[in-house]
Amino acid sequence: MKGSEIRQKFLDFFAKNGHTMVPSSSLLPDDPSVLLTTAGMQQFKPYYTGAADAMRDFQALNTTSSQKCFRTSDIDEVGDDTHLTFFEMLGNFSFGGYLKEGAIRLAHEFITRELDLKISYVTIFEGSHGVPKDDESRAVWQSLDIKDIREEGINDVFWGPTGASGPCGPTTEIYCTNANGKDVEVWNLVFNQFFYAGSREELLAQTPGKALEPLKTPGVDTGMGLERLVMIAQKKRNLFETDLFAPFVELVPHELDERVRRVIVDHIRGSAFLIADGVRPSNKEVGYVLRRLLRRVFAFEELYKMPVHIIDALLHDIVHEYGETYKDLGAKADTVRAEVTAERERFMRTLKSGIKEINNLPTIDAIVAFNLYQSFGISYEIIKDVAKEKAASLVREDFEAELQKHQEKSRQGAEKKFGGHGLMFDTGELKAKDATELQKVTRLHSATHLLQASLRKVLGADVHQMGSDITVERTRFDFAFGRKMTQDELKAVEDLINSAIEKDYTVTKKLLPFDDAVKTGALYFFKEKYPETVNVYTFGTPDESEVFSREFCGGPHVTHTREIGKFRILKEEASSAGVRRIRATIEP
Ligand code: ALA
Repeated sequence: MKGSEIRQKFLDFFAKNGHTMVPSSSLLPDDPSVLLTTAGMQQFKPYYTGAADAMRDFQALNTTSSQKCFRTSDIDEVGDDTHLTFFEMLGNFSFGGYLKEGAIRLAHEFITRELDLKISYVTIFEGSHGVPKDDESRAVWQSLDIKDIREEGINDVFWGPTGASGPCGPTTEIYCTNANGKDVEVWNLVFNQFFYAGSREELLAQTPGKALEPLKTPGVDTGMGLERLVMIAQKKRNLFETDLFAPFVELVPHELDERVRRVIVDHIRGSAFLIADGVRPSNKEVGYVLRRLLRRVFAFEELYKMPVHIIDALLHDIVHEYGETYKDLGAKADTVRAEVTAERERFMRTLKSGIKEINNLPTIDAIVAFNLYQSFGISYEIIKDVAKEKAASLVREDFEAELQKHQEKSRQGAEKKFGGHGLMFDTGELKAKDATELQKVTRLHSATHLLQASLRKVLGADVHQMGSDITVERTRFDFAFGRKMTQDELKAVEDLINSAIEKDYTVTKKLLPFDDAVKTGALYFFKEKYPETVNVYTFGTPDESEVFSREFCGGPHVTHTREIGKFRILKEEASSAGVRRIRATIEP
């Protein structure tokens, strides 16, 4: 069975068993306390905490998805048999539908009957931190004739929370044997029973004053890496021999080291997905993650004299292969190519001198490495790849510590030197350099939706958006309207927005097929080309008895309007014939 068929089989199996299929969310999560999407459950967090209603949004208590995920923690392992930066996570979720027994029986049926694979062993939670041993899961596994059941601790079989707070709970994991005879974890079934008002680190440290509370809607969150599952199902020794990777690895010259060939494919695949979701190379946060992936590939191009058409072909084939399943990627093929080319041009200016410098140095420690990074934009991985044994004693922690020390000081200078525009996030409409800025533009973005709705309420429904541009300082909104607004109208709009903020409306996101989305009456740009499924953002009461605003939008947004702060119109002026422009800001 091909990898794409396994993905579809999974989704179909759960759809057949009462789950609504939900498209992947962006690699950039709505939650500003989290850098990247690392699990399928992130888009579903509000359905466990009671902030959103699954029945209303999915017409079911259970969902299934194939989620784009990115784990920076695995970057040093890439090139071995089982690690990746970007991967697809298959998952099924229940928000008050079924619990342990239901989840384990479904997983067992999928692995053993649908895929005809053998489970080598499973794990269950041994109990700690006030949570009892998971005897219930043990009993279910025993009833399914699984003999090897191993107890593990909080570090391995207790999930969450992700970000600043959230659902969490004990897990049970399924292990299968790969073609090398090695046991590999393929599936993690999480039983979200608790809410923790703190981070995972705080939970592990048993921070005083913070306790596990019962969750509003206890449920299930499972995650299975598609690539690993395919490796087991196709009886391959490593991920790169599966049909998900082999054709891509094949494009990279055979004389290169096998590990390097794998790294190139992994990094280009990850970069394509990051760019499609709005990330741009920079020296901070997600922008820095993307920059490191790309620059490492460019360094390999330089070291092995690889012509650029190889990476171009790889990008082309990756976008082609995944563009159908992940529509955002398919739609952004040109942007992806253009961003990769632009970053290569920025880096090529300093890369060659950097490599020369490395070759002249006798040894490289953290301070020298940091200087190389600062002067030539050469990241840790490249130094390790190029300097080899000369950098044998260099470890990532020391490099990161050095980076941290200089970060504030070096930021401006480094941006100038690398000639980057220094953005970590750029959708065209929203731009942000780091997490703090992202939070601010997110609030302004939500305010912009309230602005459009309020303008229509005050000036009439002919008003519609012609353009918008949001920076940390302000939102600039262009709309079709034939004359200058009066002071009274401006005040009415401002007051309406601030009263909507005060009402603390809930912001909900719903993914719908394009035609259904249009039927909700949501506002959208007629001139734009939309994918088959679109996000509709609604600002209103949780039961939607009152809807203030509804628009097609890619996000991100606040979850409740009070997070926006106070809204203030700065200026109203003509933009072009028949188009007015409002500049507005928010106060904390
Ligand atoms: N959220 C769980 C994981 O990512 C399923 O492993």
